Amino acid sequence: MKPQIQRLGILSTLLIACSVTLAANITDEIKLGRALYEGKHPFTHAPQVAGVTIPLSDAHCSACHGSHGEGRVEGGIIAPSVQWHSLTNKRSNLPGYDSAQQILSAIEKGIARTNDTLLTESMPRFMLTNSERDALIEYLRIIGTEAVPVRGVSADTIILGTVLPLTGTQAAAGYSILQGMQQRINAINATGGIFGRVLQLKSVDATTDGLDAATLDLIQSQDIFALVGSWLAEPSDGLIQALTASNTPSVGAIGMPIATQHHRLTTYLLPSVQQQIVSALALLQERCTSDLGSEIWYVNEKDLPAINPVSGAFSNTSVNNKPPLRVVHVSQVEQQLKKTIDSRLADKLIFLLPSDDIESIRSQLDIDTLHLCVATLASISGTSLQANHANRVVVFPVPQHVLAATDLWTALGHAAIGLIAEAIARSGRILDQDRLISVLDNPQEFEPIPGLSVRFTPKARHALAEGFIWQ
Ligand code: HEC
Repeated sequence: MKPQIQRLGILSTLLIACSVTLAANITDEIKLGRALYEGKHPFTHAPQVAGVTIPLSDAHCSACHGSHGEGRVEGGIIAPSVQWHSLTNKRSNLPGYDSAQQILSAIEKGIARTNDTLLTESMPRFMLTNSERDALIEYLRIIGTEAVPVRGVSADTIILGTVLPLTGTQAAAGYSILQGMQQRINAINATGGIFGRVLQLKSVDATTDGLDAATLDLIQSQDIFALVGSWLAEPSDGLIQALTASNTPSVGAIGMPIATQHHRLTTYLLPSVQQQIVSALALLQERCTSDLGSEIWYVNEKDLPAINPVSGAFSNTSVNNKPPLRVVHVSQVEQQLKKTIDSRLADKLIFLLPSDDIESIRSQLDIDTLHLCVATLASISGTSLQANHANRVVVFPVPQHVLAATDLWTALGHAAIGLIAEAIARSGRILDQDRLISVLDNPQEFEPIPGLSVRFTPKARHALAEGFIWQ
């Protein structure tokens, strides 16, 4: 008895092992099929048109039949849908293909639906190996359907990732953003999710290893569909490469880059720091009509290379013809202020300083300094400069009504999830990264928070394109 039970045990273990390898093989086949279809893996034999070999860059299936096999018309030539239901059903009086073998004959030899005709030469001929045949057919069986595996998406869940400062000096902002995101996710999930899929959020701390390393680690170690509401400001070239290679969009990033960004995979909620400074300067110029210069003050030595391009940003603006603009590194804020007041070299000052410094400046700004026009950015310095003088300006990165009910960071967390949820819903039930990215290129308006409409185009990646002056 005993040996038999043991043998059965071995058999069932073998069976399980077998079905596991089978599943892995199908997944591998689909992966290969997709890579061949999309031109990301070369065919063993180069395809031919009228007997002439053509480069793969022109001859991958998706270039002509579309990335979801939906078919395309280009220059009057129709490359029909190659989705399985299109191939196996009648098409304009022609019978459907009966078998995978027949479809392979079309791909390899151009034998059309009716065996006695050939496809035109606009369909290249592919000489496939056995494994390429199997892989392409497995992929054609599912292309354009929900069965195509999409990273971070299952039948009932979409997994999103975010990278935020959850330790260190900015942790409070990070947690507020996270809380805003989670509240909005809970609300969406409570009403059944998006097309029946609930949202899940994986968050990692940006502080310990740095933002780029944390983002890289998240996209490489976790199967996430997209990044959302991240503290991403100016991604390094390496990070952009990694996002591109893994086709991971970063949607509604909340970090503020110094300069306006243009990467196709990243969208931002807030205007760049430069943009907010432009808004502040324009207002200061308008209110302070003296012909003294303008200065931008910052304290943090390590921000130097990032802040410097700010002055460059004004070379093409109306500010250009005005008195000089200097970017000034200050170490002793109070002394520097006194010097500036005495020297009368500049009277329009924009402080990119921590809130402590702003507090001490504020105590120096009295009736004697009313000739000084000063501005801060709420997102960098807090709001304490908000004063009752016409020439004291605080620039906010969002319009005022956004913050009617909550603080800036929680509101932005809400908005980030609102934005991605709307983009996912517009992508449709058959969801993938490409669809999400192209929905976000479409200049339709989104309303991530009631009353706040935003739009993106392939060039305009910031939802809010200017700083808002709250009076
Ligand atoms: C350079 C453009 C081009 C490329 C690349 C291309 N095709 Fe085609 N394909 C066409 C055109 C055009 C037709 C229609 C030809 C006709 O109607 O005579 C076609 C027809 C087909 C058909 C027959 C469809 C039907 O309804 O009868 C199949 C199947 C097919 N292609 C699969 C593929 C696969 C798989 C690949 C990649 C391995 C591929 N094609 C690459 C342009 C292309």
